[in-house]
Amino acid sequence: MAGHYFSEQPGVASDVRRLALHLPDLSIELDADRGVFSSEQIDAGSRLLMLEAVRPSPGSTVLDIGCGYGPIACVAALRSPESTVWAVDVNERARSLTAANAERLGLNITVAAPDDVPADVQFDHIVSNPPIRIGKPALHALLTRWLDRLSPDGFAELVVLKHLGSDSLAKWLNAEGWPTERQMSRGGYRILRVQARPNTPPGDQA
Ligand SMILES: C[S@@+](CC[C@H](N)C(=O)[O-])C[C@H]1O[C@@H](n2cnc3c(N)ncnc32)[C@H](O)[C@@H]1O
Repeated sequence: MAGHYFSEQPGVASDVRRLALHLPDLSIELDADRGVFSSEQIDAGSRLLMLEAVRPSPGSTVLDIGCGYGPIACVAALRSPESTVWAVDVNERARSLTAANAERLGLNITVAAPDDVPADVQFDHIVSNPPIRIGKPALHALLTRWLDRLSPDGFAELVVLKHLGSDSLAKWLNAEGWPTERQMSRGGYRILRVQARPNTPPGDQA
């Protein structure tokens, strides 16, 4: 599994590099590393998400699913310093980078392996450039796991490449009961806005 950016422990040698992220409202530097997603430049989909979305309400609880080295989580924390920001990733190197980037930028982000997030934490706002390449069944399981932890008025903003199945993902989300709409579309990417799934009455559950 050494060759995947979603390996738990990347096998490639470390080679940390510092990347600049410039957005209209902020400029920061982030350390990235080999063995972590898009380590040579800020991913174009993540950049679009940060340009067009990722504006948490003050005091909200935010989750970045698949934080990588932390660009989206750091932007969420910078834009909403009163929010509680969680960042999860299976990749240990990614988690270390996010924690170090947050510390260097003076941001309060809780970085965790997915299984280490306490079961009683709910999220008002999920942001993610999700790991489409893990395959459909794993992606669906991942999204189900976290979208079912949205607070009743909570929502998620997901950026997905159209050619990697954004439209069929939106269809699946709607069919599974999470009201989903296309928030915007640019440069081959879609940003999907997904609302919390209304509670299913116990008698109606399969
Ligand atoms: C498309 S990358 C986005 C990374 C980062 N947010 C960025 O914008 O650069 C998806 C991330 O999801 C992580 N990932 C893969 N499977 C995961 C899982 N089951 N739970 C949490 N994160 C996962 C990968 O390790 C990778 O860092």
